[in-house]
Amino acid sequence: MTAPAPAPAETVWTVGKIIDATTKHLQQKAVGDTPRLDAEILLGHVRNCKRIQLYVDYNAPLTEDQRARMRDLVKRRTQAEPVAYLVGRREFFSLEIKVTPAVLIPRPETETLVLDLVTFAKDRPDASILELCTGSGCIAIAAGVNLPAARITAVEISPPALAVAQENAAKHKVTERVTFAEGDLFAPVAAGTVFDAVVSNPPYVADEEIESLPPDVRLHEPLLALKGGPRGLVILERIIAAAPDFLKPGGLLLLELSPEQAPHVAARLESHGEFVDVRILKDSAGLARVARALRK
Ligand SMILES: C[S@@+](CC[C@H](N)C(=O)[O-])C[C@H]1O[C@@H](n2cnc3c(N)ncnc32)[C@H](O)[C@@H]1O
Repeated sequence: MTAPAPAPAETVWTVGKIIDATTKHLQQKAVGDTPRLDAEILLGHVRNCKRIQLYVDYNAPLTEDQRARMRDLVKRRTQAEPVAYLVGRREFFSLEIKVTPAVLIPRPETETLVLDLVTFAKDRPDASILELCTGSGCIAIAAGVNLPAARITAVEISPPALAVAQENAAKHKVTERVTFAEGDLFAPVAAGTVFDAVVSNPPYVADEEIESLPPDVRLHEPLLALKGGPRGLVILERIIAAAPDFLKPGGLLLLELSPEQAPHVAARLESHGEFVDVRILKDSAGLARVARALRK
């Protein structure tokens, strides 16, 4: 009589095995462009540790609870929920920014605008800055942290987004210098108030392009943060038209845009008559990303 074959050893779900299996699963489901990074961020969230620690703990088994939480997050990720919403945060300008589905997830390309703003304002230690369309507050807060004497007013039309921005300001200890106001673009700013800089990353996706956005964005990020009207230019045009009234002479205007909008926006700034030194700045991918002009 032959002995029965030994029972297959039960798989021990270690950190390393979970990362590999999740990466494969996300690849098979064709979710996003960074399946391994997503797997690591989700598992780091579940284990409450930094990504690097996952490699230190590579052979450690997961608890039942950790496996269940990971399964839930991966399922939501396969339904195109962005990783930043799943873990509730995103890094921006080396700061951890809280995000919820009420706010746009901060994008690396927006750091181009912040870098130019900080470079401009560091020679004006007590600079006053107006940020329109603040969302998570990432621009205002990055400016507040990096310009220790600057005063920033940040405007947002969506109350739930504004609540997130206020939490972020408190987290980064800039509430004394970053003031938030609810309203439509310049409406909450008293007439006659002028700033050293007016900056904005407004909604600039063309209405006709919303349907072709990736599902992560289209299904989960707030439409109010994306939709910029026909050709995506409505809010950009409104800001350009009114900005000179809110800028000191020599003051800086910075507007994030999409590369195809750059020629139109630059021409609009040139023809306005109140701006000089109109330029288009490129982001780290080499794409036209920010319109820059100085008030005469
Ligand atoms: C593209 S998001 C930018 C968020 C953030 N500043 C960033 O860079 O990640 C645009 C934001 O503008 C807000 N918004 C849309 N229309 C607005 C308006 N007319 N006045 C003020 N804020 C507006 C949206 O709610 C959204 O939070």
